[in-house]
Amino acid sequence: MAVRTSSWPEAALREMRLGPLWRLRARAAAGADARLGPEVPEEVPADVSEHVSEHVSEVAAICPPTASQVVPGRPLVQKSEGFARSPSPSLQARDDGRANRIAILGWEALEEDIRACRACPLCERRRQAVPGVGDRSARWMLVGEGPGAEEDQRGEPFVGQAGRLLDSMLATIGLARGEDVYIANAVKCRPPHNRTPERSEIASCLPYLERQIALVQPRLLVALGRPAAQALLQRELAITSARGKRFEHNGVAVVVTYHPAYLLRNPQDKAKAWEDLCFARRLMAELGDRV
Ligand code: URA
Repeated sequence: MAVRTSSWPEAALREMRLGPLWRLRARAAAGADARLGPEVPEEVPADVSEHVSEHVSEVAAICPPTASQVVPGRPLVQKSEGFARSPSPSLQARDDGRANRIAILGWEALEEDIRACRACPLCERRRQAVPGVGDRSARWMLVGEGPGAEEDQRGEPFVGQAGRLLDSMLATIGLARGEDVYIANAVKCRPPHNRTPERSEIASCLPYLERQIALVQPRLLVALGRPAAQALLQRELAITSARGKRFEHNGVAVVVTYHPAYLLRNPQDKAKAWEDLCFARRLMAELGDRV
């Protein structure tokens, strides 16, 4: 399905506080201070898409070329430029029998398996497991960290406050949940008190994520936050140094950006997240349609 380029929702841009971004050019041309600020502009143009599209090419200009930036995923034990050597055990799943069994499940059996899973201690305090949601043949696949309280209650990823921001983020690049987008988490059960999932928990859940990716066959994976990026890329990384780069997971392109919950706490970084999404969108255009 094509990315929508018309009628970019004003509300989404406001939610993302991106108004000053598309005013940037005019302000710069007028010699004004082009600093990005969190304030919402007084006027939102009728055709926001035109302005956003213009800005996308500006963002493209500040994103380094993708071709020179393919960084294949590799085991955490290897060191690569800009990434620290892992001080602790690998995130890779260790139970090959279980992983092999999961690797051949169809959608229904997979979701049933996830809901019945007792492979790690997260199962003990969950209300329900949260497999994933969306278009099962999407070109875009977003990977979050793990369910929160609302997700645990409703059984769907990103339905709480962070999810609402995620929907707005998607809208700013012409995407919508469920339309050419599939959303999953690195771990399928809620970590107590919304803590970051442990490496061992991510490792236990990895066969599920791998199978979801294999079934969806997305063109592009977007890792939302560090745990998701580490699960997909099998390495330690910092979001700040991984942003704007193209990685790969089993031949699928991966980009990394901030987690929406982080953006709720740090709204000054929403503009960077939007740059990342524009980078992802440009990359998707380069990748073209599925063959
Ligand atoms: N945060 C996540 O990483 N995933 C969710 O599903 C909800 C919040």
